Amino acid sequence: MQTHENKLIAEIKALKEEFINTTDKLIKDVKRQDKIMARSDKRQKQEYDELMALKIEIEETQKEVVFTMGAIGESRSKETGNHVKRVAQYSYLLAKHYGLSDKECKMLEQASPMHDIGKIAIPDAILNKPGRFNDEERAIVETHAQLGYDILQYSKRELIKMAAIVAYEHHEKYNGTGYPNKLKGEDIHIYGRITALADVFDALGSSRVYKSAWDDERIFKMFKEERGEHFDPVLIDIFFDHLDEFLHIRDSMKDI
Ligand SMILES: [Fe+2]
Ligand SMILES: [Fe+2]
Repeated sequence: MQTHENKLIAEIKALKEEFINTTDKLIKDVKRQDKIMARSDKRQKQEYDELMALKIEIEETQKEVVFTMGAIGESRSKETGNHVKRVAQYSYLLAKHYGLSDKECKMLEQASPMHDIGKIAIPDAILNKPGRFNDEERAIVETHAQLGYDILQYSKRELIKMAAIVAYEHHEKYNGTGYPNKLKGEDIHIYGRITALADVFDALGSSRVYKSAWDDERIFKMFKEERGEHFDPVLIDIFFDHLDEFLHIRDSMKDI
């Protein structure tokens, strides 16, 4: 009897020890797992941070390239450096009040400065000519819309595709008398209609080598006359409803 009991006690003891050992091992395993998890969390976080930094870098580079491209186009057409920046802001504002999505507004802000990129392919002798163009010269200058589209249209990037539309359609007029395709009304893409208004507003209000700036009265009168003619009536209404915002942009980015 005694022996049997002893044997049982020994077995229980052995079991207990085994249990303790197993539990210890389990606890160690769990702790090791925790450490591994913490390490991989840290690594994942680091990888995520690196990716985010890279994304920001790419976006910033993209913005810079886009502005530079726009500035190249404008510099060849006797425009000032701030012209494309103001056009970007006006376009954003028009897009926002027109009701385009946040993403589209931000993209148009970046794409609209490229409207005159096609001018890089127009000969200097014509672009830099002081005074007015004759008919032949005008026809050559007007090819910049098609040329801009040709340069940008094959891109797979959404932003560049948008810029291709802007370059192509920023000289179309709402009443169908613009170029290059005499598109009419809403057949003109909203990106083109918006950039057209932003570009003309800025060009009229700025002085250039070949012309002095128009005063506000004259610009507003012309915009009212061109409502539904040159410009989308909805956009003209937005312009006048939010005039203070447009003038604020103009004042904050004056040419020096
Ligand atoms: Fe243009
Ligand atoms: Fe322009």
